[in-house]
Amino acid sequence: MMKNASPYAPVELRCEYLVDFLGIDNPKPRFSWLLDHDEKGQYQTAYQIVVADNTQSVGNDEGNVWDSGRVESDNSAGMVYQGQQLKPCTRYFWKVRWWDKNGQISPYSRVAVFETGLMADDNWQAKWIGDKSRQEVVVPGGDGLNQGKGFTLYMGSLFRKEFVLSKKPVRARAYVSGIGYYEMRINGKKVGDRVLEPGQTDYKKTVLYSTYDIMPYLNNDANAVGIMLGNGRYVKDYGYDFPRLIAQLLIEYEDGSSDVIVTDQTWRTHAAPIRENGIYYGETYDARMEVKGWDEPGLNDEGWEAAEIVSAPGGKLISQAMPPIKVTKSFPAVRLTNPMPGVYIYDFGQNFTGWVRLQVQGSAGTTVKLRFSELLYDDGTLNVNVNRNAQATDTYTLKGEGIEVYEPRFTYHGFRYVEMTGFPGTPSLDTLEGRFLHTAVEPTGGFECSNQLLNNIHRNIIYGQLSNLMSVPTDCPQRDERMGWMGDAQLVAEEAGYNFDMAAFWGKYLDDIKDCQKEDGSVSDVVPAYWPIYPADPAWGTAYISIAWELYRFYGDVTVLERHYDSMKRWVDFLTAHTDESGLVNYYHYGEWCAPGSIPPKNMPWEITSAFFYYHDALMLSQIARLLGKDEDAESYRQLSGNIKDAFNNKFLNAEHGCYSFSSQTCNVLGLQFDIVPEDKEKTVVDVLLRQVIESWDYHFDTGIIGTKYILDTLAKYGYKDVAYKMMTQEDYPSFGYMIREGATTVWERWEKLTNRGMNSHNHIMFGTVDAWFYKDLAGIIPEQPGFKRVTVKPVVPSGLDHASASVKTVRGMVGSQWKRNQDSFHLEVTIPVNVTARVMVPKLDFDDVMVKENDVSVDSQNLSTCCDNEEEYFVFDVGSGVYTFEVERA
Ligand code: BGC
Repeated sequence: MMKNASPYAPVELRCEYLVDFLGIDNPKPRFSWLLDHDEKGQYQTAYQIVVADNTQSVGNDEGNVWDSGRVESDNSAGMVYQGQQLKPCTRYFWKVRWWDKNGQISPYSRVAVFETGLMADDNWQAKWIGDKSRQEVVVPGGDGLNQGKGFTLYMGSLFRKEFVLSKKPVRARAYVSGIGYYEMRINGKKVGDRVLEPGQTDYKKTVLYSTYDIMPYLNNDANAVGIMLGNGRYVKDYGYDFPRLIAQLLIEYEDGSSDVIVTDQTWRTHAAPIRENGIYYGETYDARMEVKGWDEPGLNDEGWEAAEIVSAPGGKLISQAMPPIKVTKSFPAVRLTNPMPGVYIYDFGQNFTGWVRLQVQGSAGTTVKLRFSELLYDDGTLNVNVNRNAQATDTYTLKGEGIEVYEPRFTYHGFRYVEMTGFPGTPSLDTLEGRFLHTAVEPTGGFECSNQLLNNIHRNIIYGQLSNLMSVPTDCPQRDERMGWMGDAQLVAEEAGYNFDMAAFWGKYLDDIKDCQKEDGSVSDVVPAYWPIYPADPAWGTAYISIAWELYRFYGDVTVLERHYDSMKRWVDFLTAHTDESGLVNYYHYGEWCAPGSIPPKNMPWEITSAFFYYHDALMLSQIARLLGKDEDAESYRQLSGNIKDAFNNKFLNAEHGCYSFSSQTCNVLGLQFDIVPEDKEKTVVDVLLRQVIESWDYHFDTGIIGTKYILDTLAKYGYKDVAYKMMTQEDYPSFGYMIREGATTVWERWEKLTNRGMNSHNHIMFGTVDAWFYKDLAGIIPEQPGFKRVTVKPVVPSGLDHASASVKTVRGMVGSQWKRNQDSFHLEVTIPVNVTARVMVPKLDFDDVMVKENDVSVDSQNLSTCCDNEEEYFVFDVGSGVYTFEVERA
């Protein structure tokens, strides 16, 4: 055996998909790790996990709470904890080792950590506190449903408590929630770097709390904790009342004793310098109202009142086990103009989500006003039409003490431009700095190719996707919505799965969907259901099943399917209960949405998308049931899906002409998914679709958000990769290139460039679905088995593209595909991680006689297995882990 050919210690250990996370409430957390080996074709045959509640034990390779022993398994992700019952607020240490295919054992990994949260209601000694008398204001504007009637908000409040530590602590944690939003400070400093906490939920069902390590903030003796509260989504307009908070601080000492500091009526409260604050409205901050030292010990708290114990919001307190929202990047302004006296316009060169940091010096009482938008008028002034009823205005009143720096806390905006008025003196470019914030999911994907336009589209999609992750997947960040529209979310789940680690985010969102489900099985279009729009359009409600399925496909996690199975089933049964004599769902709200020149469906039946997703959901549910061993259900939903398919064809397939529509690309595209079209009609449908794309639309999209997701794959699947490529590289209307030509730095809601008041956000993600095509087709990376256990790498090489490369950091490690085409050769490099196998399909392209090389060594192409897939011939290689090169040369 080679000297180095033994397995390395596992790396990147994760518990609940998070690294060394504090606050795990799941009594059976899931573990995963990545593997490395010098030898090619390696995989795991067994593993051993040890979990201990002390470092000594884990150091001695003893799992005093769980030692899995040697477990024969090739799974390295989503392994469920099976040890002793986990205790709340406890730090656990774990490590793992593995056996390779030769039975060689690896060293143990480094010791990773996870810490449990409070785990159960009984462990909360803290009380919910609030300030009922805090002033209520009605601010102008409103949201997309409560048009223009204003919004009722509570003014910001401060809460504080002093405490003394008599001994030296060894561990200190704070478990905190404050709804709508809160910010916690200890001894004058903000704790941690999370913003807009906690994540949004239906607060009557679930309230998320976070766990903070507060050790670095504590003083030896006198300490103070201060918490600010804002409205967030916890507002009257959504059926809630005034903001409230709960906090429990646990301080542990060397001698094993501990102190617990909890919110109760001994906390004190005061009006905050944050006056108005709302997600849509913006934030009004009066620095003259700051209470110096409010978050430090020793404050003279005259004028402060006792906090009131208030009722709990109703939802179960659950640890927020997903990446928090953070500021991930700062943007300097790229241009400053002065279109009118006293009016300054900042251009950040990029549409994004967040706010700006203001630096200002002037006399007390001076008020600087900042308004945000994605657009300017031709005269260079701010065009706020796109914001609709969202006021999107931050106002800062100076205290007049030297250089003052202000960033808001309880609002966010979607913008590229900022209008500043009221500034004392002449501002400079760096008076404002853009701050990009979103749920800080880990980037896992990368794509690049020889066509710069495609690279730009990819870039815009990345910005659009991140801008729309705000603890829930949102439709847009700028106007009076920013809601968890489920249609948008389900469509982009695949794209997001390629680009980011979405495991924990989608896990939380599926719980949000479960929370919103009614007795009758229906779910809402918008989740959390701040706008309770029941029952969801089937193309929106499918998010429950579609997202769970993507989660399974990308991370191989069956526990999620188990957790939601009964509820997903109730959703499909709800649809079945709402069918008519045709056997199809008898309602819809939106249908195919936002095709060129239209918001509602055009040139097509509205209900075809409802029918399509009813079929899709029944089919997926039958597969999920099969996976979970529920064979009876599997069979009955399989039959149901068969019936729906027949009903779909009866209703929408024109038997005489053999297609689903002469006027809609979407109808034919949908008919070509999931084996809907009868075999003998397949060719005609494809031909009609081609005619629609080429003759009627000159290689442009005539699809809305639903057809767009499927059309490129479909064309490529039937051998029309060049047609798909041509559609994606157009630069005139309607196309992605057109958006970019017109200055888009994110993806638009509509194919049209619109700047009036209405439905025309310039940062919607729902058309971003095409990004998956870059990975799946151009680079050819396809998860063949869940969790990328088996991968197909099958690049689709359109004429005009010389190279493409992509990588995806999967739950099993990095999968890469990188190709280059020259006049006489095609070169492909593939990277497959340990514990993954791959089928690599190397296209023969238009070369007649070829020489094939694998890792620079010629192979006899006669002996290679080939496969022909719609005109394209491929040489097929089955490989295990490792880096491989393949070369096809004209002989
Ligand atoms: C949202 C969409 C959403 C749609 C459904 C819009 O206002 O912005 O993205 O899916 O409504 O009707």
